Amino acid sequence: MEYDHPQAIRLCALIFVTFYALLHLVEAQDQKGFISLDCGSLPNEPPYNDPSTGLAYSTDDGFVHSGKTGRIQKEFESIFSKPSLKLRYFPDGVRNCYTLNVTQDTNYLIKAVFVYGNYDGLNNPPSFDLYLGPNLWVTVDMNGRTNGTIQEIIHKTLSNSLQVCLVKTGTSLPMINTLELRPLKNNTYNTQSGSLKYFFRYYFSGSGQNIRYPDDVYDRKWYPFFDAKEWTELTTNLNINSSGYAPPQVVMASASTPISTFATWNFSWLLPSTTTQFYMYMHFAEIQTLRSLDTREFKVTLNGKLAYERYSPKTLATETIFYSTPQQCEDGTCLLELTKTPKSTLPPLMNALEVFTVIDFPQMETNLDDVVAIKSIQNTYGLSKISWQGDPCVPKQFLWDGLNCNNLDISMPPVVTSLNLSSSNLTGIIAHDIQNLTHLQELDLSNNNLTGEVPEFLAGIKSLLVINLSGNNLNGSVPQTLLQKKGLKLNLEGNTNLICPDGLCVNKAGNGGAKKTNVVIPVVASVAFVVVLGSALAFFFVFRKKKTSNSQGMHKKF
Ligand SMILES: *[C@@H]1O[C@H](CO)[C@@H](O)[C@H](O)[C@H]1NC(C)=O
Ligand SMILES: *[C@@H]1O[C@H](CO)[C@@H](O)[C@H](O)[C@H]1NC(C)=O
Ligand SMILES: *[C@@H]1O[C@H](CO)[C@@H](O)[C@H](O)[C@H]1NC(C)=O
Ligand SMILES: *[C@@H]1O[C@H](CO)[C@@H](O)[C@H](O)[C@H]1NC(C)=O
Ligand SMILES: *[C@@H]1O[C@H](CO)[C@@H](O)[C@H](O)[C@H]1NC(C)=O
Ligand SMILES: *[C@@H]1O[C@H](CO)[C@@H](O)[C@H](O)[C@H]1NC(C)=O
Ligand SMILES: *[C@@H]1O[C@H](CO)[C@@H](O)[C@H](O)[C@H]1NC(C)=O
Ligand SMILES: *[C@@H]1O[C@H](CO)[C@@H](O)[C@H](O)[C@H]1NC(C)=O
Ligand SMILES: *[C@@H]1O[C@H](CO)[C@@H](O)[C@H](O)[C@H]1NC(C)=O
Ligand SMILES: *[C@@H]1O[C@H](CO)[C@@H](O)[C@H](O)[C@H]1NC(C)=O
Ligand SMILES: *[C@@H]1O[C@H](CO)[C@@H](O)[C@H](O)[C@H]1NC(C)=O
Repeated sequence: MEYDHPQAIRLCALIFVTFYALLHLVEAQDQKGFISLDCGSLPNEPPYNDPSTGLAYSTDDGFVHSGKTGRIQKEFESIFSKPSLKLRYFPDGVRNCYTLNVTQDTNYLIKAVFVYGNYDGLNNPPSFDLYLGPNLWVTVDMNGRTNGTIQEIIHKTLSNSLQVCLVKTGTSLPMINTLELRPLKNNTYNTQSGSLKYFFRYYFSGSGQNIRYPDDVYDRKWYPFFDAKEWTELTTNLNINSSGYAPPQVVMASASTPISTFATWNFSWLLPSTTTQFYMYMHFAEIQTLRSLDTREFKVTLNGKLAYERYSPKTLATETIFYSTPQQCEDGTCLLELTKTPKSTLPPLMNALEVFTVIDFPQMETNLDDVVAIKSIQNTYGLSKISWQGDPCVPKQFLWDGLNCNNLDISMPPVVTSLNLSSSNLTGIIAHDIQNLTHLQELDLSNNNLTGEVPEFLAGIKSLLVINLSGNNLNGSVPQTLLQKKGLKLNLEGNTNLICPDGLCVNKAGNGGAKKTNVVIPVVASVAFVVVLGSALAFFFVFRKKKTSNSQGMHKKF
């Protein structure tokens, strides 16, 4: 499978590309922090090493709670490696998400591989959206991608959990074959803002071999590129010292240099649009054994703009040169040129080049405390609502069913303001984690089978305006603090074992006293013989119902 190569250089690139090289014996390279998921493999399938890379893949079961498993058709198998043969597709719900444990504030290389392979026999390659948390990452369109497609991004994690979501956008079903995360070295691939979307990653060699793990300790995939009309290739067998960016030894061990000593080394690419911002990483090492009078020194320019006035690659040591600010190219056409300085006796050289476009993820994720609390509530009650995946509040169109949030300002973390689990078959006690939803205004747990007492902590949620616990099996007595909470609509109807000492409840009602204006709601039933009699019929029925109840426990406040 392939990345989408930039149009301008795609043709040349394809000449050299092989689909996966199995040149590497499996070495015991550190896969620390790697997550390699073979999506769609069976829950009980033990982890295995992919023979072509030595990477240890495991099932995606446990990272996603929805979807069905499939397998590409036999006729396509030969061009793909084992982890891409199986897949998970998502017939249910609109957004389905993988949740991954990550290290906070760390740059991750995140790769997702998609191979349709007519798994469903419909000959209808799907198109769908891929989200990173609450933000759109890319639209994946499998049309015409017989060889599959890879989406790659370098993204700094904001918390210790990362969600990758597949979103249905039409009639076709989202699907995924592998999902891979590799933590990168701190302080590499930094951006001023936004994340880095893969554009291309070339090493300048005619080898024809793709390079990835274990040669690349971060499992970046390097494609060979060589313009034989203009360049000669330098190679070395000597060891080249690594740098922070750690391009693989085999990548740095070859370089391109103009055939003519006086020629400019150039490379051009076409960006998706004239306003596209990008970052560029040039990896250099002097791999030629220089004679004592030799110097190699060159000027680096991008579209004629000076990037580096005099650069000399380090002998047998990698050095990576990059802009620390995002760049743009006029008309979206970029031309990188290395020009020999007058003093230099040798032409310029280039070993490897990476370009990423900047992708902004402006939507903030939901407040982490709220996320943890709501997930804990989900676990407590074993809720398996299909929409309860991904970020609870955002984007707005995927708001979890039964929640409401304040999510108007994308630069502020949304918070949960309403939790409505009315008629959701809840059993057990009222979950303690509800108290961690500190911005909650409405809580509706009515018409379930909740037992135990009405917890006092509800009175501690300052913002609460509505609590509906009607139609449950709650018992004990209602905490006074709750009854006395100002401006609260409390509905406890239909909990036959609940003791709400009449006096107290009446008092609360009566207490309105000093602060009558604060009693938001028109009526408090138990006081209100007069009110009841004098007011709407509805309230008469409420009153009657109370009388006929065998306990005086039931209570309600409107
Ligand atoms: C992720 O971390 C949570 C606790 O932070 C843990 O309960 C869970 O098992 C972890 N998941 C995986 C797949 O490691
Ligand atoms: C898929 O890869 C094969 C080589 O394995 C190539 O011949 C074919 O053109 C590729 N198809 C597309 C659509 O890129
Ligand atoms: C990365 O580096 C920054 C500062 O350079 C530091 O604050 C941060 O803790 C480092 N993160 C890790 C995971 O080492
Ligand atoms: C370098 O420039 C020459 C002449 O302008 C052009 O023919 C060639 O395609 C360029 N090479 C690359 C790799 O862009
Ligand atoms: C390579 O690294 C080693 C150990 O850090 C150092 O001794 C040696 O001088 C370095 N070689 C070059 C060419 O920089
Ligand atoms: C709720 O908040 C308390 C105190 O801040 C904390 O100890 C607890 O872990 C939180 N529970 C959840 C599920 O976040
Ligand atoms: C909770 O949802 C139910 C229907 O699903 C609705 O009737 C009820 O009014 C909602 N509760 C609140 C407080 O909005
Ligand atoms: C509650 O349980 C009943 C019976 O098991 C089931 O029919 C109903 O769909 C469930 N409701 C919800 C909201 O889960
Ligand atoms: C509620 O739970 C109790 C005990 O757990 C059970 O006996 C009762 O049938 C349940 N009621 C409903 C309506 O599910
Ligand atoms: C629960 O009570 C609140 C306040 O009285 C009301 O807004 C809500 O609609 C009720 N929920 C249901 C399911 O009737
Ligand atoms: C409330 O019910 C639970 C069982 O659901 C029981 O353990 C507890 O003792 C009851 N509390 C009171 C005050 O009746």
